[in-house]
Amino acid sequence: MSHAESSQNKNRKILITSALPYANGPIHLGHMVEYIQTDIWARFQRLRGHSCIFAWADDAHGTPIMLRAQQEGIEPQELIDKMKAEHETDFNDFLISYDNFHSTHSEENKFFAEQIYLAAKEKGNITTKVVKQSYDPEANMFLPDRFVKGECPKCGTADQYGDNCESCGATYSTTELKNPYSVVSGATPIEKDSEHYFFKVSDYSDFLKEWVNGGAVQKEIANKMNEWLDGGLNDWDISRDAPYWGFKIPGTKDKYFYVWLDAPIGYIASFKNYCDKNPEINFDDYWAADAEDKTELYHFIGKDIAYFHTLFWPAVLKAGNFRVPTKVFCHGFLNVNGQKMSKSRGTFITARVFLDHLPAEPLRYYYAAKLSNTVDDIDLNLEDFQQRINSDLVGKVVNIASRCAGFISKKFDGNLSNSLADEALYQQFIDASDSIAEAYESRRYSKAMREIMALADLANQYVDEKQPWVLAKDEATLPEVQAICSQGLNMFRALITYLKPVLPELAEKSEAFLNAGELQWDSVESPLLGAEINKFKALMTRIEEDKVNAMLEANKILLAEAAVLQAKTSTQNGKEKGGSQVDSQLAQDPISPTIEYDDFAKIDLRVVKIIKAEHVEGADKLLQLTLDLGGENGGEQRNVFAGIKSAYDPAELEGKMTVMVANLAPRKMRFGTSEGMVLAAGPGGEDLFVLNPDEGALAGMRVK
Ligand code: 2FM
Ligand code: ZN
Repeated sequence: MSHAESSQNKNRKILITSALPYANGPIHLGHMVEYIQTDIWARFQRLRGHSCIFAWADDAHGTPIMLRAQQEGIEPQELIDKMKAEHETDFNDFLISYDNFHSTHSEENKFFAEQIYLAAKEKGNITTKVVKQSYDPEANMFLPDRFVKGECPKCGTADQYGDNCESCGATYSTTELKNPYSVVSGATPIEKDSEHYFFKVSDYSDFLKEWVNGGAVQKEIANKMNEWLDGGLNDWDISRDAPYWGFKIPGTKDKYFYVWLDAPIGYIASFKNYCDKNPEINFDDYWAADAEDKTELYHFIGKDIAYFHTLFWPAVLKAGNFRVPTKVFCHGFLNVNGQKMSKSRGTFITARVFLDHLPAEPLRYYYAAKLSNTVDDIDLNLEDFQQRINSDLVGKVVNIASRCAGFISKKFDGNLSNSLADEALYQQFIDASDSIAEAYESRRYSKAMREIMALADLANQYVDEKQPWVLAKDEATLPEVQAICSQGLNMFRALITYLKPVLPELAEKSEAFLNAGELQWDSVESPLLGAEINKFKALMTRIEEDKVNAMLEANKILLAEAAVLQAKTSTQNGKEKGGSQVDSQLAQDPISPTIEYDDFAKIDLRVVKIIKAEHVEGADKLLQLTLDLGGENGGEQRNVFAGIKSAYDPAELEGKMTVMVANLAPRKMRFGTSEGMVLAAGPGGEDLFVLNPDEGALAGMRVK
C-alpha cells in the first residue's frame, strides 16, 4: 500500500503488536529485545503526533501449559491468570507503553478463531486426514514432537527431541527416534491414528507470493519464504486431540485448535477487547478486509516465528475475510556476552531479576544502541553495557544539563536567556531531526542513537570550549554565562526530545526540570528562551559493576532453585529420562507454588552418605546410588535412582554426602525400585551439586 507509511504523513492510524509470550514462563531479557523494540517504535510514532495502538496478549493455550498446570496441581486458568499478572508487572516496570494486554484464552479469541475457521471451511480451505502420531499409553495422550525424546536415528546421541538432533542437526520425525520415551510419563510411546484438520495454505500461494515479495517483509525473510513457496506449501495441521488446553473446533467432539492457529488471532482479540473499552476506536477500521486503505498494521516478531507470521497468518486472515498486515518486522536473537543465553552459564536472565537490581532505562538504551532493521542477532555484553550507559547517558547527555543548570539557578534565578548564543550550532540540532526520525521509522535505532550521541558530543565540546565556570567568576562576563548555559540546556532539551522514545522516564524528569510542558518531536524547532526552569536534580546515576554482578548472582540462584524444583517434580512423576525436558517451556520456573507448613513437615529430609554409586545399564541420565542413612536408623541403606549422571562419575560420588527425601513412597522404575529421592542443586547438565564433605559426620541427621 502506498498511503501513510512515510513518517512525514500526518495523522497515521497505526496498530502494532509484539509476539505473544507463552503463559507458562517468565519474561526474560530475550523477550525484552522485542518488547523494547516495539515500544520505542510506538512511542516514536506518538511523539510524532500519530495514533499508534499497541495491543497484544499472553499466548495461553497448548500442551506445555496444560502439563505445567497439572504439575502444579492447579487449573490452567489459575496458571495463566497468575502468569499474566507477572508478565504485565514486568512490562510496566520496563516502561512498555502497551495499550492493551489480553489473553488468547478469552471470549473474543474464541469468537474470532471460530469465525475464521468457519469462513475458511466455507471457502473449502479445510480438509481432514488421518495422521499417525506418537501416543503416550500411560498418560493417555498424543505427544507433541517436543514431548518425545530418544536417540538420534543418524548419530545415536541420546536425549534428543522428536524433531531434530542438537548434536548432528539431522531432522526427522518422532517415529524415527531410537528408544523413544515420553517426556510426560517416561513410557515408550506407541503409534496411533487420529483424524486431523488441515488448513490448505496452498490455496493462497499466489496471494502469498505477491504479498511476501511486495515489501511486506525484510529481504532476508522474503528469500526464505520464496524457497518455501517455490517448494510448494504443505497443508497445515490445525487440530489437536483431547486432552488439550485450547478451544474446541466447532462441529467436532474432541478436536481442539492447535495453539498456533489461535495465537495470532489473539492480536485481533486483544484489539477488539481494547475497542470495547474505548468506543471511539472503530474495530473495522483496523481489521476489516478494506482496512488496508485506512490504517497500518505491523507485527514485531523474532525471526524464529517468521514462518507462522508470513505464510500461515496472512493466508488465515485472507480466509477469514480480514485485512493482512502492512508489514511484519523480524528481529534477531539476543546473545549474552557473545554466547547464546544459557541457563548453565547463568545468562538466561529474567526480567524480574534484572529489575530487582538495575533500572529499566539503561537496558532500553543499550538495546536501542544495538538494534537495526535486520534479523542479525544482538549481543548484550554486560561490561560494555555498564560502560556505555555511564559514558553515553550519564557522561554525555545528563552531564550537559548538570554542567549548565547550576549557573542558571544560582546566578539567574532559573531564567534562561532570551536568545541563543550560537544559533548555527543549535541549527545543527534542528537539522538532524529528519535523519533521526527516519532512523527510528525504519527501526535503525542504532543509527538514531549514534546520531544523537554525535550531537551530545557537539554540545559537550561547546561547553568545554566556553568554560562557563571560568566566566562565572567575573561579574563582567556573567551575561555570557547565562547565554552559554541556555544554549547548553537547549541542546540538552533537543537530545532528550530525540531520546524520548527510548528513555521516557528521563524525558519526564527532564520535562519537569525544564518546566515547559511535554516535549513533542517538533519542540526542538522552538528553543526554550526567556523561560524559567526548575532546580536541577540528578536525572540518572552511573551503573556500578557490583550491581551487575549482584544481578547475575541472584539470577544464578534463581536458575539453580528452578532446576531443583524441576528435578523434584520430574522424579516424582517417574520421569527418570528427560529431566531437563522441554526446558524452554517447563523449566523456566518463576512460579514456586507455595506449600503449607503442614505439607513441608511431612517431608522427611535426611543427610545421607553415598556408599555406592553405579551406572545403570540402558539409562541415559540415571545413576544407581546406595545410601547410608547412618546414625539413628542404625545404618539403614536405601537404593535410589538419581538423574545426576550428566554431572558425576559414579566413583567421584562414593563417600560424599547428600540430602534425601527419606519418606517418599518407593517407586517402581524400569531399572528397579527407587526408595527415596536425592536432592541436588544447580542449573543442570554438568552443574548439579550434591553436598560435598567427604566425611559422614552428618549422616542420618534430619534436615529440619
Ligand atoms: O513463540 C512464541 O513465544 C509464541 N508464543 C509467539 C506467538 S505470537 C502470535 F502468533 F501469537
Ligand atoms: Zn544426531
